[in-house]
Order: sequence, then C-alpha cells, then structure tokens
Amino acid sequence: MRLEGKSAIVTGSGNGIGRATALLFAEEGARVLVADIEDDPGNTVVNEINQAGGEAVFHHTDISDESSADSAIQAAVEAFGTVDILVNNAAAFVFGKIEDVTRDDWDRVLGVNVRGPANCARAVLPVMRENGGGAIVNLASVSSFVAQPAFIPYNSSKGAVLQLTRCLAMDLAVDNIRVNAVCPGTIHTRATETHINALGLDRDQALSDFGQDSPMKRVGRPEEVAKGVLFLASDDASFITGEHLVIDGGATID
Ligand SMILES: NC(=O)c1ccc[n+]([C@@H]2O[C@H](COP(=O)([O-])OP(=O)(O)OC[C@H]3O[C@@H](n4cnc5c(N)ncnc54)[C@H](O)[C@@H]3O)[C@@H](O)[C@H]2O)c1
Repeated sequence: MRLEGKSAIVTGSGNGIGRATALLFAEEGARVLVADIEDDPGNTVVNEINQAGGEAVFHHTDISDESSADSAIQAAVEAFGTVDILVNNAAAFVFGKIEDVTRDDWDRVLGVNVRGPANCARAVLPVMRENGGGAIVNLASVSSFVAQPAFIPYNSSKGAVLQLTRCLAMDLAVDNIRVNAVCPGTIHTRATETHINALGLDRDQALSDFGQDSPMKRVGRPEEVAKGVLFLASDDASFITGEHLVIDGGATID
C-alpha cells in the first residue's frame, strides 16, 4: 500500500493510461479524483474502484479551462480534505505536417497538453503548500524528444511538457513539491486505436508494426506506464525531481 492515506487527482482517467493509473493508485490505498471531460468512462472507472473497496469520485473537467481545473482541485479538497498527488495525464492528439495544422488545431493541442497541466499545477499549488508538499507527475512522451513524421503539433506540445516539468520542479522544490514526467513509447490505448483508424491501417497489423520499433518487439500496456507513474508519485521517489522516466521497451535506446 504505497499510497496509503494519500489523495490523488488523475486527469483524463476515464481511459487508457489515466484509467490504469487511477485503478493502481486506488489499489495502493489512495483516494482518487477521476477528472475527465467524458462523463461515462470517468464514472465507470469510479464505479470499478468503489466496487473493489477503494474510494473514488468523478469530476467533469476540461483541463484547458482554468476555472474547470480550479473546480477539479476544489472537488478533491471537498471530497478528501487535501491533494497529495496530481497526475497530469489528459491530452489532445493532434497530428499532421506544418501545412496541415490550423490555428484551431494549435489552440486545442497547446490548450490541453501544455496549458492544461499548467492550469492544474497552478490550481493545486496552494493546497500542496498548505499540506507541506506533494508530487506532480506529468505524462510527457518519447515524442517530447524524438521527431516523428507528421507529428508536429503533438510533439511540439509534448516537448513543452518536459520543459514545464523541469521548470516547475525548479520553482516548487522550495515547497517540497516534486515534479517529474513519464515518457511512454507506443502504448495500446484508445488514442492509439484512433490513430490507426485515421491512417486507415489494419489494427492488429499496425500494433505489430509499431511494436517492431522497440527491441522488445511489442507495444506497451497502460498498466506498465501506471507503475512508473506510481513510483514517481510515491515516497519511494522522495529525492527525485525534474526527471523523466522513459517507458518504451527500449525504442529510444540510441
Ligand atoms: N498511448 C500512447 O501511445 C502514448 C504514448 C506516449 C504518451 N502518451 C500520453 O499518455 C497520456 C494518456 O494517453 P492515452 O493514450 O491513455 O489517451 P486516451 O485517449 O486513451 O485517454 C485520454 C483521456 O483524456 C481525456 N481528455 C481529453 N481531453 C481532456 C480535457 N481537455 N480535459 C480532461 N480530460 C480530457 C479523454 O476523455 C480520455 O479519457 C497522454 O498525455 C498521452 O499524450 C500516450
């Protein structure tokens, strides 16, 4: 029970990596606020946790909207008394070459992927300060530091998430708030399936092909990323801040 007595917010935890993280955190003893823009999957995760004997509540949240981020933090404080851990996981998946990307696309990808985590960090700061500290884990990506074809908006935003992580870590260490990032490679989630569909590829063939990019010859599972998030969020990582943990089956070894 590595998160016994802790309370956590996981954004975008209705699906994929966020869902796996919320479930694992609850198993490890945390009370979890599931913050998602989609109500049905968010409520389903909350029911899963509560039926398994954990404690979770759902809050409809759009992290790109400052007041919505504020209200998610407030809801967690009302439900659990405080917030020890914030996982900035929700993201928008906007891909394309530079000439394909509209102004609205840029606003959306930067609004959700960069301003979103910043909004949540700003909102949680007074609560964590009052608490004497806390841990923030941002979902960055291998896309934060490698170039991929026709991935301009998403990769630009994920590069910014890594710098946001380092700069927050620098500024918030004085408040005993650690800020780290996890950088997954290709993980089998709804986002990956949507991408495969958009490319018009066969699902199983594409997942197998994506897996060939890593020495482990497979794509990852959301649960494998959640374990890295748990480590960085827990007291096991008490002297780690401003770091990023790559979870990609070795895809970016060289
Ligand atoms: N899947 C991958 O291969 C992969 C690889 C590297 C990094 N990541 C990162 O991991 C994180 C999770 O990705 P995933 O694949 O699990 O995605 P997913 O699409 O399966 O789930 C994302 C969740 O975020 C929610 N969401 C979207 N916009 C939101 C908003 N504005 N406010 C609140 N919630 C919102 C969605 O409703 C959804 O429940 C993202 O930050 C992503 O960039 C994923």
